Amino acid sequence: MSQRPTAAEAARARAVAAETCEIEGVDRPGLHADAGARPANESFAAVLGRHLHRRAFLAGAAGAAAVPVLLTAGEVRADATAAGSDPLAFAPIAPSKEDRLITPEGYDHQVLIRWGDPLFEDAPEFDAGAQTPEAQRRQFGFNNDFVGVFPVEGGPNLLLVANHEYTSGEDMFAPYEPGVNRAQAEIEMAAHGGSVVEIAPGPDGWRVARGSRFNRRIDATTPMAIAGPAAGHRLLRTAADPEGRTVLGMVNNCSGGKTPWGTWLTCEENFNYYFANAEQAQDPDLKAVHARYGVSRKESPARWEAFFDRFDVTKEPHEAFRFGWVVEIDPYDPAFQPVKRTALGRMKHEAATTALAKDGRVAVYTGDDQQFDYVYKFVSSRAFDPADRKAGFGLLDEGTLHVARFHDDGTGEWLPLTIDNPALKGRFADQGEILIKTRLAADAVGATAMDRPEDVQPNPVGGKVYMTMTNNSKRPAPGEPKGADAANPRVANLNGHIIELVEDGGDHGATRFRWSVFLLCGDPAVDLKTKPEEIRAGLPTAATFYAGYADPSTLSKIAYPDNIAFDPHGNLWIATDGQPKTEGIGAPNDALHAVPTEGPHRGHLRQFLSAPSGAEVCGPEFTDDGRTLFCAIQHPGEGGLVPNKVSSWPDGESLPRPAVVAIRRKDGGLIGG
Ligand code: FEO
Ligand code: CA
Ligand code: CA
Repeated sequence: MSQRPTAAEAARARAVAAETCEIEGVDRPGLHADAGARPANESFAAVLGRHLHRRAFLAGAAGAAAVPVLLTAGEVRADATAAGSDPLAFAPIAPSKEDRLITPEGYDHQVLIRWGDPLFEDAPEFDAGAQTPEAQRRQFGFNNDFVGVFPVEGGPNLLLVANHEYTSGEDMFAPYEPGVNRAQAEIEMAAHGGSVVEIAPGPDGWRVARGSRFNRRIDATTPMAIAGPAAGHRLLRTAADPEGRTVLGMVNNCSGGKTPWGTWLTCEENFNYYFANAEQAQDPDLKAVHARYGVSRKESPARWEAFFDRFDVTKEPHEAFRFGWVVEIDPYDPAFQPVKRTALGRMKHEAATTALAKDGRVAVYTGDDQQFDYVYKFVSSRAFDPADRKAGFGLLDEGTLHVARFHDDGTGEWLPLTIDNPALKGRFADQGEILIKTRLAADAVGATAMDRPEDVQPNPVGGKVYMTMTNNSKRPAPGEPKGADAANPRVANLNGHIIELVEDGGDHGATRFRWSVFLLCGDPAVDLKTKPEEIRAGLPTAATFYAGYADPSTLSKIAYPDNIAFDPHGNLWIATDGQPKTEGIGAPNDALHAVPTEGPHRGHLRQFLSAPSGAEVCGPEFTDDGRTLFCAIQHPGEGGLVPNKVSSWPDGESLPRPAVVAIRRKDGGLIGG
């Protein structure tokens, strides 16, 4: 314990980590540790029809819920496809460094729920100076990332689900004593995971239905099932769970997705930072796997291993293999046991987003957020049956996980990670091992190393798939893939980029695709001369490309694209994580931007929101009627200590609190329209 850092030392270490996080491929400054090594789409009418069908089905699934108001086809056509029209009508805001949340003129926002807000009648009010594990288990968790909404029976209420990605003790406690104060570790564990919260619309906006029968907290200790091909695998068996089928908790749940049968997919991302002492692992094979995933070589940042042996690789060598999965949760059933779906692979999952193949099979897109890691797609064996919600719960246990290879000619293929793939034969004992060691299998089949894949998401309007590559300052690096390639065209990608992918035949079940660069982020005033053909040749850092839109005077600067969403018109909304670190665009606060994906304004990106100081923007999530936009404001004031001098958002107090906001137009109109 004598090596425990003082608060000042911890702050310095944190500042250093923040400075170097993008260099190390580390997503979260506070979790810095060892880094591991055109359209042939279906028509809009078909998409809308399917969407309506899904809503009606969901309504049935949840009881007899009212189907939320949808845009009429006329409204959509008028805004989205009318030739020459601009589907975005808000007045863009300027980049800001102010410690407040800024939206365009004509918009309002409200803080819907904050870290520590009580979810149940018996939950105590938040008291920063009297935190307990028991209280935190009944309150909204820390660092909200993914946000999704589901309709509630009878309407117009919604179930809002939120991930609680990670904790940063120095932003929660004073003094913070990692590895010494067991209660703080237990509060941190209780502040992880996710929340389900019923919300109701009212004259003053949305409000939380405290005590709703749906409200739920899931944390780093909640029992979860392990399902799919790796369930019961010898590498998933531990002293506490000799069957390898039940695990306690989920950690570092970053983004996620929703399934057509109305469940929540929540994704374990930087799980590696929760496990300690990998360099002392006895088994060289296991040691190599832990190294490929960046499991902490020595102590973990939060040092839970001081109190719980399962987080120490030398004491429980397999526990780390039980994290890094996509977890499925039924938001309508508070007693539902969360399930880790091993068929979707084990990696630093950013998100997991779904689309239906033409034959009804379910495709799940997911990115592995690490410099030089990969983009994946799972396709289920069986088709989704809108008449049988229950059958949906097994769909993600049988199917094929693929990893993407991007060819320089603008084509690409999804390579199967299956035991009968000749490239994998003899290297892995069984399918379960392939899934537990997904990164190694993807290495072996020759996947394309990307510039830190974050969100990968199909546009419900038109079906093109968009994927954010947040940044990669290492390209090229000694021992890493050399130089740039067509899909990662910058030799030093300081600002990130977005790729647009079209599946063959517009079918999400396809194994081949075409792709192009949609956006090369940065300052459009610096170099907007890039031509698509030049992108394929490899570009200098400053080059920018806004899908061919070439008037820099009306474009906003953007860097570090992370989470994305689509409004009901199919415009792409891009949340950022890290803009304050990008001197190339003036290091403004993180932001939310919107950009049309079709028509004459394709590429015309404009800033919609500026976050408070130190915060990243997560979510975002639209209601189906397009009239409310939920955003998760994560880690306001990051980099400060308690009391915090970086941010006092949202309450003007010394302890900033991560919170979900609801944004509406003052006239009740369509967001962005
Ligand atoms: Fe947690 Fe990849 O952002
Ligand atoms: Ca990120
Ligand atoms: Ca993210």
